[in-house]
Amino acid sequence: MEIIPEQQATEHILAPELKAEEGRFDNVLRPKKLEDFVGQQKIRENLNIFIEAAGKRREPVEHVLLYGPPGLGKTTLAHIIANEVGANIRTTSGPALERVGDIAAILTNLEPNDVLFVDEIHRMNKIIEEVLYPAMEEFALDIVIGKGPSARTVRLDLPPFTLIGATTRLSLISSPLRDRFGATHKLNFYSADELATIIKRNAKILGADIDDHSTDLVASRARGTPRIANRLLKRVRDFAEVKAAGRIDNQVTTAALKMLEIDELGLDQADRVIIETIINKFGGGPVGLQTLAAATSEETETIETVHEPFLIQLGFIKRTPRGRQATPRAYEHLGLPCPEQAGVADKQMIIA
Ligand SMILES: Nc1ncnc2c1ncn2[C@@H]1O[C@H](COP(=O)(O)OP(=O)(O)O)[C@@H](O)[C@H]1O
Ligand SMILES: [Mg+2]
Repeated sequence: MEIIPEQQATEHILAPELKAEEGRFDNVLRPKKLEDFVGQQKIRENLNIFIEAAGKRREPVEHVLLYGPPGLGKTTLAHIIANEVGANIRTTSGPALERVGDIAAILTNLEPNDVLFVDEIHRMNKIIEEVLYPAMEEFALDIVIGKGPSARTVRLDLPPFTLIGATTRLSLISSPLRDRFGATHKLNFYSADELATIIKRNAKILGADIDDHSTDLVASRARGTPRIANRLLKRVRDFAEVKAAGRIDNQVTTAALKMLEIDELGLDQADRVIIETIINKFGGGPVGLQTLAAATSEETETIETVHEPFLIQLGFIKRTPRGRQATPRAYEHLGLPCPEQAGVADKQMIIA
């Protein structure tokens, strides 16, 4: 099979970042209540208890750290928590907090029991992180006044608040920061049934006319990710408006998915390039992440956070001590003969 060269002209349906035209839809489709949040049952049960207990004690909810691949509902959950306890939510992100003054301004402006949501918290710098320690633990802000020998620290009281952190890279969060969260929740990929529930609900909101079969088809190709399910639904709907007077049926859905180059497992062009590269250029691996990134013209971070988690979930690639390796299943999916080696590699130690 051919390796597809360089950048593809096709649009990236997996792009983790929100696209501009998506913002409007996102607000409409984002569930506001915990009971409307589909799947992730353990997290929901846990949060329910958390929220209720906090309400009884009239205290803020404990600090929560949410992690998992993009599009699984971290931001949505942060908003739901705030909404359920009737608190305001202030949103910022790791990279946006450059100076101590930035975080100090946010903290001192919080109202009691507010939620402070810090997205991409793994990208927060060390100095900001150290300001957060006493803020999280004791609701206090230590600020240094003056310089040199006359400098002194003044402690300001902060209102009690809840910090919700979200990250795609749990391993990059320092342990002192992790320890200060009352709960840490991992978001998992969604089942096709759960995604079908989400698609049905959202089709209704968007006024899209989709049949059950097409709903299941879209769900099975959304790579376990609600954000992708929503994107596919919108694309299929647009396609149906142009080609089939708005009716989303099997034929329209199949054609739209084909145009988007999404295969029956939900893999897109870039996913296939990654496995093809491991197989064709590196004899099935193991190949190091940097090398793989260079060979596929992808960012290492995109491979690690967007593509790899799903390819590992499918059992198509493995992380071994010496790099990424294609499994027999990956060969099979691409219709390539599987060499002896790939089977042997199966028995190698896996780093989760
Ligand atoms: N459990 C869920 N139930 C219903 N819709 C969801 C769920 N999780 C995510 N979504 C939808 O997917 C979109 C992306 O979720 P988001 O919270 O932005 O993901 P993340 O912050 O993890 O990248 C949301 O706008 C929402 O419409
Ligand atoms: Mg988010």
